[in-house]
Amino acid sequence: MARILSGVQPSGEVHLGNYLGALRQWVAFQHDNDAFFCVVDLHALAQEHDTALLASRTLEAATQLLAAGLDPSACTIFAQSHVPEHPRLAWLLECTATVGELRRMTQFKDKGGESESVRVGLFTYPVLQAADILLYDAELVPVGDDQRQHLELTRDLAVRFNHHHGDTFVVPQAAVPTFAARVMDLQEPTRKMSKSVSSPLGTVLVLDRPQEIDRKIRKAVTDTETSVRYDPEKKPGVSNLLELLAASTGGDPAVLADDYTSYGPLKADVAEAVIALLQPVQERYQELKAQPDYVAKVLADGAAKAHTVAAVTLDRAMRAMGLLPPR
Ligand code: TYM
Repeated sequence: MARILSGVQPSGEVHLGNYLGALRQWVAFQHDNDAFFCVVDLHALAQEHDTALLASRTLEAATQLLAAGLDPSACTIFAQSHVPEHPRLAWLLECTATVGELRRMTQFKDKGGESESVRVGLFTYPVLQAADILLYDAELVPVGDDQRQHLELTRDLAVRFNHHHGDTFVVPQAAVPTFAARVMDLQEPTRKMSKSVSSPLGTVLVLDRPQEIDRKIRKAVTDTETSVRYDPEKKPGVSNLLELLAASTGGDPAVLADDYTSYGPLKADVAEAVIALLQPVQERYQELKAQPDYVAKVLADGAAKAHTVAAVTLDRAMRAMGLLPPR
């Protein structure tokens, strides 16, 4: 049994990239491992957010995790802000991280890292992420491809801390799926699918109605050729569709490409496969959305359990750094 931790931001609705890159792995990992999953609401504060919506979005994200198939009797699900050890360990780690290494984070640069008015929280965001992971002695962190650099930083911080202060942290590894580790935007296939893009047509939400999913996939940008080939560099749109098909039905995108001689039938099959993939998630969501008290209870129980693990690690780290233990 490996210890596992991962997290998702409560930034609105979960999309197909989140589902294929991360959540589906979480569901697969939960039974044979000791798994912790958190809705990282403190991370959401690092950028402009709607105060009136944050709490309900956190509950909504948890509801969608349960709908995706997380089972609270098999894993621990909690909200990051309910476990005070997260920001406390983040501070200790901030005192070991350097400005240089945080400046190199591409997500920080992409989100306006050059600007003087960028928030300090956005800069130190990856250190809080490292704290999320290291608090649970996580060996594996199931994430999409875009989190690899943050995982590398986490490993560097853990190794450095262990070197200076003695063995304290487990050095984690990213677990990234073989296909659909970076689902691309359907309208701009050279950028990753995300909620913050201009055209909603580019992002399939896990709760989109079947007709909507079909429409988005049929309108997906491809290219002016007609041949179906898996070539992410030269044919990003078509390759993205092939990856979605591979991830939804099993198989290899390069091999699946041989079944098609034009884009129309490929799109039809991708739409059908994605609709079928998301159908059970959508059905479970319909049941869960009527039970907000149940979801809140899952989070409360999860926070209590997470706290018992996190408190031990934080105490170890504080002592290792030489702080006076409270009596
Ligand atoms: P977030 O909320 O952006 O995304 C949650 C998970 O979804 C994956 N993902 C994708 N995978 C494939 N294709 C895409 N287009 C795509 N978009 C997102 C992400 O890789 C992620 O696994 N910083 C993290 C949250 C976080 C975290 C952590 C993750 C905070 N603390 C500790 C792991 C461990 C984030 O913003 O994820």
